[in-house]
Amino acid sequence: MAEVVIVESPAAAGALVADQIARLIAGRPDAVLGLATGSTPLPLYQALQTRLADVDVSQVRGFALDEYVGIDIEHPESYRSVITREVVEPLGLDPERIRVPNGSLDGIEHAGADYEAAIDAAGGIDLQILGIGTDGHIGFNEQGSSFASRTRIKTLTEQTRADNARFFDSIDDVPMHCITQGLGTILRARHLVLLAFGEGKAQAVAEAVEGPVSAFCPGSAIQLHEHVTVVVDEAAASRLKLADYYRHSYANKPAWQGL
Ligand code: PGA
Repeated sequence: MAEVVIVESPAAAGALVADQIARLIAGRPDAVLGLATGSTPLPLYQALQTRLADVDVSQVRGFALDEYVGIDIEHPESYRSVITREVVEPLGLDPERIRVPNGSLDGIEHAGADYEAAIDAAGGIDLQILGIGTDGHIGFNEQGSSFASRTRIKTLTEQTRADNARFFDSIDDVPMHCITQGLGTILRARHLVLLAFGEGKAQAVAEAVEGPVSAFCPGSAIQLHEHVTVVVDEAAASRLKLADYYRHSYANKPAWQGL
């Protein structure tokens, strides 16, 4: 079962996970991080700025979860731009070591296989940061995605396009397709850390953590992984049936275990 940690605020979640990432990098300077975009990981990236300020991150490697297909890479909302602006630059990472799936139409047929090969060549992802969509998607794996899927092209649902329209001038500007790590790709990372904040995520979190394992809720794939940490605020935890047990377990967790 996933370890569920209920914290008082997104900032507290960010601090907790930033500590874990700092420990990872201390033990492995060329650690491979799986990077998520969206609003959810921002408090984590902010906490990492402070936490990693005196840490040598020059060897750290990273792989983003997904990218829009056909978007100009220079567009401020391409995930390449977002990762550069929100992660690479503020944390001082080496841009050459941070990969984002190639969403350009040129070579799109083999972009997924190329990305999988790059992850393999890096030795796999040590810690994968995940958000979750209101419909339960992780990465851009929409409902019905195969648990065995690898990096590939997907069609975005209208709900996801509407959710993401806030980053664009209008919903018509949100691309129709994306390239995303598959659920099978995500499940190969050694540690999954799923973050979710706010009431709007409560149902998706409950279904992912406690619901049936089903492609209907792609986030439920995390139940198949042996090392998962779900860090949520009270609002996002509000529909978890076992919330009291999660609080009790975390309060009594042996200090040596880490996340
Ligand atoms: P959000 O998106 O962090 O912007 O809420 C999460 C997701 O769609 O995976």
